[in-house]
Amino acid sequence: MKIAKLNNAKIAKNDEFYTQYEDIQKEINAYIEYNPDVFKNKVVLLPCDDPEWSNFTKFFAQNFERFGIKKLISTSYAMESKNFKYPYQISLFESESPQFDKEKTETHGKIFTLTRENKRAGKINIDDLEWSYLEGDGDFRSDEVKALRDEADIIVTNPPFSLYREFINWIFEKQKQFLVIGNKNCVTYKEIFALIKANKLWSGKTEWSGGLWFETKDSNDIDKVINGINMKNVSSVWFTNLEHGRRHQPLQLMSMADNLKYSKHKEIRENGYQKYDNYDAINVPYTDAIPNDYNEVMGVPISFLEKYNPNQFKILGMSASAGYNYEIVGIPFLGEKDARPLINGKNTFARIFIKRITENGN
Ligand SMILES: C[S@@+](CC[C@H](N)C(=O)[O-])C[C@H]1O[C@@H](n2cnc3c(N)ncnc32)[C@H](O)[C@@H]1O
Repeated sequence: MKIAKLNNAKIAKNDEFYTQYEDIQKEINAYIEYNPDVFKNKVVLLPCDDPEWSNFTKFFAQNFERFGIKKLISTSYAMESKNFKYPYQISLFESESPQFDKEKTETHGKIFTLTRENKRAGKINIDDLEWSYLEGDGDFRSDEVKALRDEADIIVTNPPFSLYREFINWIFEKQKQFLVIGNKNCVTYKEIFALIKANKLWSGKTEWSGGLWFETKDSNDIDKVINGINMKNVSSVWFTNLEHGRRHQPLQLMSMADNLKYSKHKEIRENGYQKYDNYDAINVPYTDAIPNDYNEVMGVPISFLEKYNPNQFKILGMSASAGYNYEIVGIPFLGEKDARPLINGKNTFARIFIKRITENGN
């Protein structure tokens, strides 16, 4: 537990985690499969990136024509402004460009753009990107990057975890479409949960278990080295407001009676579904043990969100902290002090309260 806390604290300060190409490809394919025109004639912005090194820029530049993108913009954050310092490496792309400026290279962000007009020969590619220094350091909160946000239709990135709430808020200020990576725990932030509950933000396609592997710049905090690259596993998932197929597939579930007899979880077969002491709801400790014929409130694990289909269940609220707030919890509190779900006086884990949507739509 102590080690986990320490790791979380380190990760909170270090934002330098670089996403793998395969992870981006796997996730984006889910949206293309669902709607091949999802990026067609769209302005796609990749903020908080490092375009020369980033797989986001590479992936979108390589697929620019296939996706029918209108304009791709990516921006980087100046080396000097980063929380976590590591040896600065100027790319050949930058140092060999006529616009290279050694006065600006560490203190200014950069902007890279790709449009159909940039095309030189053959298929549009990463070599067709045009770039210049930004006026400022590339902070997503700056007026110049905000103007790019306003121009964009879809925002895609792995943003700094240390500014996560602010980043999501920044997207929602202008109601943009988005696909972003985030720490799994952020679903318990009240601002993020409110968006989930309102069906304005949901889980991407990639499964939640196992987290994501990133290239890390902190050589003192590595989980493994692959082909000479330092890698770190972070419990991250994708969040979006773009449609994908999994979100519309109903979870395949058994009735309550069948679960009590045949559930693969001994706990369900032996203890059944217990009621909370402090909420009028039953505890369902595993998503695959949600009974498909129970019409009252159920408390389910946070990881239910990975499988959530808004046509099958309604999210009422979440209980993750000791203080009770109806806006977040969504159902009446029947206890006295601790608002975390209790069973026989003992705390259970954080729970999301859901209700099945029945045939008549309730
Ligand atoms: C998690 S990394 C991801 C980088 C890249 N998007 C990727 O996934 O490969 C987040 C990046 O945001 C940058 N960053 C930190 N604070 C920022 C800010 N206020 N504005 C813009 N970028 C920032 C960090 O320096 C880091 O490079």
